Amino acid sequence: MPPLAEPSATARARAAVLRAHDAPFVVEPVELSEPGPGEVLVRIAGVGLCHTDLLGRVPGDRVPKPVVLGHEGAGVVEAVGPGEGGGLAVGDHVVLSYDSCGLCANCRDGRPGYCARMARLNMAAVVPDGRPRAFDQAGSPVHNRWFGQSSFATHAIATVRNAVKVDPEAPIELLGPLGCGVQTGAGSVLLALSVRPGEALAVFGAGAVGLSAVMAARLVGADPIVAVDLHPSRRDLALELGATHALDGADPDLAGRLRALVPDGFHHALDTTARPDVVATAVAALRTTGTCGLVGVGGEDYRLDSTLMLMGRTVRGIIEGDAVPQTFVPRMLDLWRRGLLPFDRLIQTYPLADIARAEADATSGTTVKPVLLP
Ligand SMILES: NC(=O)c1ccc[n+]([C@@H]2O[C@H](COP(=O)([O-])OP(=O)(O)OC[C@H]3O[C@@H](n4cnc5c(N)ncnc54)[C@H](O)[C@@H]3O)[C@@H](O)[C@H]2O)c1
Ligand SMILES: [Zn+2]
Ligand SMILES: [Zn+2]
Repeated sequence: MPPLAEPSATARARAAVLRAHDAPFVVEPVELSEPGPGEVLVRIAGVGLCHTDLLGRVPGDRVPKPVVLGHEGAGVVEAVGPGEGGGLAVGDHVVLSYDSCGLCANCRDGRPGYCARMARLNMAAVVPDGRPRAFDQAGSPVHNRWFGQSSFATHAIATVRNAVKVDPEAPIELLGPLGCGVQTGAGSVLLALSVRPGEALAVFGAGAVGLSAVMAARLVGADPIVAVDLHPSRRDLALELGATHALDGADPDLAGRLRALVPDGFHHALDTTARPDVVATAVAALRTTGTCGLVGVGGEDYRLDSTLMLMGRTVRGIIEGDAVPQTFVPRMLDLWRRGLLPFDRLIQTYPLADIARAEADATSGTTVKPVLLP
């Protein structure tokens, strides 16, 4: 096979580059190649930090380095690659979500979160053709296209599948979390679990994903809505956003308190902690035929109680709330505009240069959803 020519570098960006799992993010100049067919260059107005970006902190090569992370970008289209631009034009406001191939059976079935190429397109931090498309000042390649974007940067190249056009009147710098964390929590309740009015829901972990689930549960009239977290501030916020009860995850009698609230067991549970002990509590809190959704990434293996499972209980993994971003992102934005999904309450903004502080505040629990402003 002949050597692949490197595409010409056109866009000069500044990006937060991570060079080792235990290194600080360094904001530095990066050259991005021009967008190819099916791609768009986006000037990032704001980008959320999602817990999944912290996979970059796991020792080993699970996330290749050096890398530009960030997968909740939102901004303005600056250039559209040659060919059919998926309906996108220069100047469009877009929210960047996860990428998918559009060609596999699940994509064709309208379930792109379960795309056969999900891992390759989102977690590998490489462009599908394997060519380097981002370079540092020394001309060395930097891994790019994390979740089809790598948006901890002033500019990112996304695809026409994961760039979702949104209303230009909305505050674009705050919309990035709609592309992952908010979508995952809200979609888990509205789409994956299909929670109905009057049904009981317990949400374990009141971070950005869990609190988005709480907001969506209030929206559909679930009752009770029980949020469980270790941080008092997050429990308080859960109550403000629609939880009917908030319980301490460290309470040794958590199972008893859940049982006291809903003696027959919950119709639904959602785990966002990825902790085996919490998942066991969540499944045990279900009624017979109840369903527990799992969204946590990177945790240890879970154990199922065979007797509980025999009685019709379901445990299922959920990617991105089962959402199709091209339709669900505008729908969430519409709900926000009507005051029904106040996801902006989760956000604290930071300059991109303060990414270390944003990361520390997210890790300590002080900030629910940091949004970096390049
Ligand atoms: N499946 C998907 O498509 C998808 C999408 C986005 C995020 N995620 C994953 O979802 C998870 C949640 O994301 P997030 O951004 O909300 O993270 P987060 O860290 O903000 O939230 C997790 C919450 O769990 C709480 N918690 C930890 N241990 C607990 C315990 N023992 N009992 C009760 N609460 C406990 C923490 O205090 C924290 O508030 C992460 O694992 C993230 O990687 C998955
Ligand atoms: Zn995410
Ligand atoms: Zn696919």
